[in-house]
Amino acid sequence: MTGVELPHPAYPRASSYDAGWVAANNMGPHPLWLAEWLCEAMALQPGMRVLDFGCGTALTSVFLAREFGVQVWAADLWIAPTENLARIEAAGVADRVFPLRAEAHALPFAHGFFDAAISIDAYHYFGTDDLYLSYFAPFLRPGARFGIAVPGLVNAFESVPAHLEPYWEPDFWTFHTAAWWQRHLERSGQLTAVHADDLDRGWEDWARWLEFCATHGARTSERELEMVRTDASRNLTFVRCTATRRPGAAGVVAEHRLRGPQDHAPR
Ligand SMILES: C[S@@+](CC[C@H](N)C(=O)[O-])C[C@H]1O[C@@H](n2cnc3c(N)ncnc32)[C@H](O)[C@@H]1O
Repeated sequence: MTGVELPHPAYPRASSYDAGWVAANNMGPHPLWLAEWLCEAMALQPGMRVLDFGCGTALTSVFLAREFGVQVWAADLWIAPTENLARIEAAGVADRVFPLRAEAHALPFAHGFFDAAISIDAYHYFGTDDLYLSYFAPFLRPGARFGIAVPGLVNAFESVPAHLEPYWEPDFWTFHTAAWWQRHLERSGQLTAVHADDLDRGWEDWARWLEFCATHGARTSERELEMVRTDASRNLTFVRCTATRRPGAAGVVAEHRLRGPQDHAPR
């Protein structure tokens, strides 16, 4: 499926990409819509070293390189870098997008290497841990930009609302409100200028994209689509957070607790 248009007035850059290409490599909500929304607040400059963290099929990595002229390290756990390289080469950006396999707690980078890090629909898999930013933030140089866009909540709840019960999965407890993320990122002590907000009527984008994938035979979740439609903005949305790496923050306070299993082997 190629040459399919899906224009969205809020995302003119993403709208110029082949929606068939995005759908064929889909892993959830429209990654380029979320990336464009996030990057409005990221101040990316040509030549910057950017980490695309949990990049999945690297569509956002291609988007960042093409739209902002940055160099991108496309890091992911589930999707093999060889697979991503083929997509990156086909998109003509292999000179500035570098795919690699990386687990969020065992990153193969030098501290202070990145000018910016972004993560689309992935940070909630590991970043809700209160200890995580003290491990991750040192990979950013002081003053570097940090930005994530994740599925989230309009309002927090203690027990699952009745209309969401048929669809709810335990993993969805990683969905949080903008206020939750604001506090979570601020109190890490690693970031400054933290700003978190949610996408007005985000569920419409979420549903529209899942509908498009369903009608074009792409991988999608009927159950997720039904959940988002049933909810219709009452609870589900997307949350965006941007921040700046705080100069002089103490780093890696919890490194010994976040090492991979190999580091715990008897010596
Ligand atoms: C729902 S997919 C989103 C992929 C892509 N960003 C997108 O929007 O299409 C979530 C991604 O998070 C990555 N991920 C989850 N846990 C991870 C971890 N512990 N370390 C590194 N990546 C992780 C997975 O490899 C997966 O590709």
